[in-house]
Amino acid sequence: MTPPDTPDTRVIDQAHGERFAAYCADCVPFTAALPPGSVDFSVYSPPFSSLYIYSESVADMGNCASDDEFFDQYRHLVRALFAATRPGRLTAIHVKDLVYYQNSSERGTAGLRPFSDGCTRIHLEEGWDLHSRITIWRDPVREMQKTKAHGLLWKTLRADSTFSRQGLPEYLLVFRRWAKDGEDVVPVTHTKESFPVEEWQDLASPVWNFGVQDLPETDVLNVKVARSDKDEKHLCPMPLNITRRALRLYSRPGETVFSPFMGIGSEGWTSLQEGRRFIGTELNPAYFRQAVKNLEDAATHGRTGDLFAAVG
Ligand SMILES: C[S@@+](CC[C@H](N)C(=O)[O-])C[C@H]1O[C@@H](n2cnc3c(N)ncnc32)[C@H](O)[C@@H]1O
Repeated sequence: MTPPDTPDTRVIDQAHGERFAAYCADCVPFTAALPPGSVDFSVYSPPFSSLYIYSESVADMGNCASDDEFFDQYRHLVRALFAATRPGRLTAIHVKDLVYYQNSSERGTAGLRPFSDGCTRIHLEEGWDLHSRITIWRDPVREMQKTKAHGLLWKTLRADSTFSRQGLPEYLLVFRRWAKDGEDVVPVTHTKESFPVEEWQDLASPVWNFGVQDLPETDVLNVKVARSDKDEKHLCPMPLNITRRALRLYSRPGETVFSPFMGIGSEGWTSLQEGRRFIGTELNPAYFRQAVKNLEDAATHGRTGDLFAAVG
């Protein structure tokens, strides 16, 4: 794929395939250097502020000391992506709310940090319109077993049920960059055959429930290989089934999909499998290297042939 002209983005490393371009770089200056309207659709998980530490870089948005600091940095990406997005098109972000505990809070209280609401606020302030909020169901029993969260334990309910809370879902928040007067809009069209009504009825649900068996870890690329440095605590890979649905709905085969936080390349892998082109940035060199392997794998073994034949 022809690399975008990115003169001043401090790209540390890069790799190109016929349908992908991957950059080890800070996504903010990189996105700001993308040609206006060059991204047909973007889909990604932002680093949930200070939940995970991905590297020691100051540009790593996972290293922010507070939500305010994270949103100050994230705003620059959201603004740059608005300019880089094709008029009339969308961006989709995979997020969830976060828990804070008594021992780590200034006031000595515990509760939920509405991280997803913060992401929405930043998008609205930077010119996007909220288009859809899809709730992704997650099993509360599994969350309880994994986190031992006080609010989910049955013994908490018996002792004082005012401390009981529901399990945390994930969200796919979708925002539109409306076209201005005079800007051309290219629709994403389908046929009865390519997108049957049953599939639409399924995807039109406000809650995407992949079932109890479909754990967040199951439909994801293998993360273990990328964990090489001691400071990389955890990477939460984007589930492939969520990306696949978003791509089907909001982009056409052959179009360019962008992930500013590509991690080990999940969004790119799905994009290539679904016959799209992909551009991704990732700051962490170990994740970047793994992403390139995954992208090369998807490009070689993807079921792209049939889909590509359908591109007009
Ligand atoms: C939630 S993870 C994304 C995981 C990815 N969706 C996947 O499935 O592999 C967020 C990623 O953002 C990266 N990151 C943090 N700050 C960044 C920045 N300024 N530019 C590019 N990548 C960044 C982190 O290293 C981490 O890999």
